[in-house]
Amino acid sequence: MTTLPPDNASTSLAPISRNGRALSVVPSGSSLIMLAEPQSAAAEAYRALAANLQFSQRDVDVQTIGVTSAAPGEGKSTTTANLAIALAEGGWQVIAIDADLRRPMLHTLFGLENTEGLSNVLLGGESRLPLQDTIAPGVRLLSSGPSPANPLEALASRELDHVLSQARAQADFVVVDSAPAGALADAAVLAPRLGGMLLVISAGKTKRDLARRAREQLERVSATMLGVVLVDVKGDDKLYRY
Ligand SMILES: Nc1ncnc2c1ncn2[C@@H]1O[C@H](COP(=O)(O)OP(=O)(O)OP(=O)(O)O)[C@@H](O)[C@H]1O
Ligand SMILES: [Mg+2]
Repeated sequence: MTTLPPDNASTSLAPISRNGRALSVVPSGSSLIMLAEPQSAAAEAYRALAANLQFSQRDVDVQTIGVTSAAPGEGKSTTTANLAIALAEGGWQVIAIDADLRRPMLHTLFGLENTEGLSNVLLGGESRLPLQDTIAPGVRLLSSGPSPANPLEALASRELDHVLSQARAQADFVVVDSAPAGALADAAVLAPRLGGMLLVISAGKTKRDLARRAREQLERVSATMLGVVLVDVKGDDKLYRY
C-alpha cells in the first residue's frame, strides 16, 4: 500500500524526496503507537514504511537504516522505535540503536534503563553489545549509554563499525536513531556507514529549506537516501480513503 499525502504536504515534499513520493505518511500520534494502538492509521503507516523498506532491499542493502531529520523534535526517535516494531511484526529480528548521544530517547520510549549502551562500547572498550530485550517481541535495544563529552568523535570512531557489524550479525534489520542533521555533523558521520537513510519531515514543523539542506548534507557524504517519512499529518480520514 502506498499512501498519498494531502495536497499541501506533497507540495513541500517534492523537492526533498528522491523519487517524488514519501515512503510513508504517518498521521498524528505519539510514542509507541504500534503497541498502544495497533489498529490505528499511524500504526498502518509504519507498517507501510516497513513494507517499503523490505521492498527496497531488492535494490539496495537496507539492513542498516539511519533515521534523521533537519531539526530537533521532528519525530526521529518515535519513527525509529515504531519502525523497529513494524519490521519485527513481519517476523524479522530487529536491533534499534540509539546513536543520538546528545538527546537519547529510545530507552525512555521503551521504558528501559540507559546505564550501559552504545557509548560504553565506543569509548569503554566493551566488546559485547549490551542489548536489552524490549516489550516488543523481536526488537532489542542498544541504548545510547551515558552521554560522552564529545559525541561526534565517539560516533566517528572505528569502534562504531564494529558495533554495526556485530548488530548486523545478530539481526535482520538494524534501525539507528540519530541527532538532527541540520546543525550537527553526527548524522553525516553515521550515514556513509549505514545501508541507507530516512529523512523524517514533520508536516507542521519542518522548514522546507532546512529539509533540503539536510538532504544535501547527507548526499555530500554519499549517503543512500531511502526516502522521506512524513509524520504528524492531520486528518487521517483523507489519507486512508481507498
Ligand atoms: N507522528 C507523530 N504525530 C504527532 N506527534 C509526534 C509524532 N511523532 C513524534 N511526535 C511528538 O513529537 C515530539 C518529538 O518526537 P521525537 O522525540 O520522536 O522527535 P526527535 O526528532 O527524535 O527529537 P530530538 O531532536 O529531540 O531527538 C514528541 O513529543 C512526540 O510525541
Ligand atoms: Mg530523538
